[in-house]
Amino acid sequence: MPGYPVLPDGLAYGGDYNPEQWPEEVWQEDVRLMREAGVNLVTVGVFNWGLIEPAEDVYDFDRLDRILDLLHTEGIMVDLATPTSSPPVWFRNRYPGSRLVDREGRVLGGATRHSFCPSSPDYAAASERVAVRLAERYSGHPALAMWHVHNEYGWANAHCYCATSAEAFRAWLRERYGDIGAVNAAWGTTFWGLTYGSFDEIEPPVHAPVGLLTGLQLDFMRFSVDAHVANFRRERAAVRRFSDLPVTTNFMIPNCKPMDYWRWSAEVDVVANDHYLDAEGPDAHIDLAMAADLTRSVAGGRPWMLMEHSTGAVNWQPRNLAKRRGEMRRNSLAHVARGSDSVMFFQWRASRHGAEKFHSAMVPHAGTDSEVWRDVVDLGTDLGRLAPVRGSRVEADVAVVWDWESYWALELEWRPSADLRFRERVGAFYAALWREHVTVDFVHPSADLSAYRLVVAPSAYLLTEASAKNLHRYVEAGGHLLVSFFSGIVDENDTIHAGPYPGVLREVLGLSVEEFHPLREHGTVTVAPATGIGGSVGRIWSERVRVGEAMPVWTFADGPDAGHPAVTRHDLGAGAAWYVATALDETHGATDGTHGVAHDTARGSASRDPYGLRGLLREVLDHAGVRRLAGVPEDVEVVRRGAHLFLINHADQPATVPGVTGTGLLDGVEHRGSATVPPGGVAVVRT
Ligand code: GLA
Repeated sequence: MPGYPVLPDGLAYGGDYNPEQWPEEVWQEDVRLMREAGVNLVTVGVFNWGLIEPAEDVYDFDRLDRILDLLHTEGIMVDLATPTSSPPVWFRNRYPGSRLVDREGRVLGGATRHSFCPSSPDYAAASERVAVRLAERYSGHPALAMWHVHNEYGWANAHCYCATSAEAFRAWLRERYGDIGAVNAAWGTTFWGLTYGSFDEIEPPVHAPVGLLTGLQLDFMRFSVDAHVANFRRERAAVRRFSDLPVTTNFMIPNCKPMDYWRWSAEVDVVANDHYLDAEGPDAHIDLAMAADLTRSVAGGRPWMLMEHSTGAVNWQPRNLAKRRGEMRRNSLAHVARGSDSVMFFQWRASRHGAEKFHSAMVPHAGTDSEVWRDVVDLGTDLGRLAPVRGSRVEADVAVVWDWESYWALELEWRPSADLRFRERVGAFYAALWREHVTVDFVHPSADLSAYRLVVAPSAYLLTEASAKNLHRYVEAGGHLLVSFFSGIVDENDTIHAGPYPGVLREVLGLSVEEFHPLREHGTVTVAPATGIGGSVGRIWSERVRVGEAMPVWTFADGPDAGHPAVTRHDLGAGAAWYVATALDETHGATDGTHGVAHDTARGSASRDPYGLRGLLREVLDHAGVRRLAGVPEDVEVVRRGAHLFLINHADQPATVPGVTGTGLLDGVEHRGSATVPPGGVAVVRT
């Protein structure tokens, strides 16, 4: 991999630096403050296209030269961006065919960034040219550490429906299928008699009166990812003509549904991610952990870079909540715990103009006499102390299946229940595992699973035959698999696998499903143990499971499938495959073998009464032999990264974690047998 790590030592600290918004006197203050805060890397030039190429093929690098030279003088390294996410005004006017068209056929406005068609040949030529010029000029600059191609591919222009895109889509289909008969077969066009006579007859999935061919929609999504990847590759090649420094682009995991980041991961030298908290979400820190684990997984377990997050509020949520005391530090260190070798922000200094002026920054509008600034400086000190963490890896015994194609397919129109959402389902399992203090990797279902004791597949709706075989082999070889309802239903074309549901998973699960019985909005069912303890409330879904080789573990106690299995286990080869036929509440249920009595889901009671999904997971984790640290308080995030144990206390009380011996990296404290973390605090212990 060229040049990783990007800095000579330690973790990278900094953010997007857009000094072109300010007079040069401010730059002097900027670099002085950067040094005060311990900033060592800044992303420069993200939105500079119209400034460095003010007219077609006319260049002005003066300002950028001065910025890079100044940063170099102060010893601050540069992550130099190609500016191609924000085409200049002249480009749009000169090349109207490059304009972005939405699903309704509207040409979208241009007084913003990202407003271009990803398949436009004019955009391809112009973006390549500016990337070449930039790379030619700066590849030898001593401040340069890495390249940041474009910005957030697919964020606002993931899909374009213009005539150029339609033509490119048809070419893509020709390449994928070879002949039109194969397209008709894949999309099942005989239904509704929609058989195509030639590729030229195919339209993109534009707005239509009723549901479109679903295979067409999936292929259009795949095509669109390829269009963005092609743009990235073209610019990467332009940069590599002059430079062998690492090249990346900033992903938006998991908040950019249209981009299949498994497809993207091999394209970059180091995975970089932007993550913004869902600030109003009650479990924003758990969402953050999930994003970080998924990013590390996309990076193949290698260290990755947090390229953007925020010191406080963003500007684009319905209510932009500022971070609470200590939250920015916890967020930053949670990313590091989960494999990031950097903490970077959008942006260095808060903007005075335009759309993002209410977005927080490292230097807020309040200036340096502010809590935010003091926290920024303190974070620089923390990160300096965490230098030994760099490059180390996070190991996980448990993997959760995540497939963007299945995400897309699950959420197309006309599914059995509008309440069934991919992120919610994966998030529910992830949150329950987080509360059990289990670190997880995410995997594509076709990946090598042999490193994991347990693989969890929540509503893995689209599953190819090859992936299902992979899961089968994994179980036979001794793996433990937990699958939830509506998995293994369709192939890559959204065609139902033959036979009773769940087609390709029947054998490994040892059961079949006769009929789905989705519940009414807010409806619930109760599930009770077939033997022993357990039980829960189920939501969203019930279904008629018929066990073959599997044995029932819990049973539906009421609802449309009363008396039929709700949770099953199938011992197969050296492993076991579990199945759960409803959306279990995280904690909720009976402790005494009866059902539906303990309706207290408060956190405090959760640890005493951990049935529901958590109870089931505990059972499965024990069965699979997944070891966890015992006695860790509920709201403490525990992650081991190499030789370091990160303990992040999300509660308002001090938390004592037993079984910890070693030296605190942040505070030098010696822990002998346990570590006490202050309310909202973080400890990183070298064990
Ligand atoms: C994204 C972009 C930034 C900025 C932030 C605001 O991550 O890359 O340019 O717009 O969002 O949150």
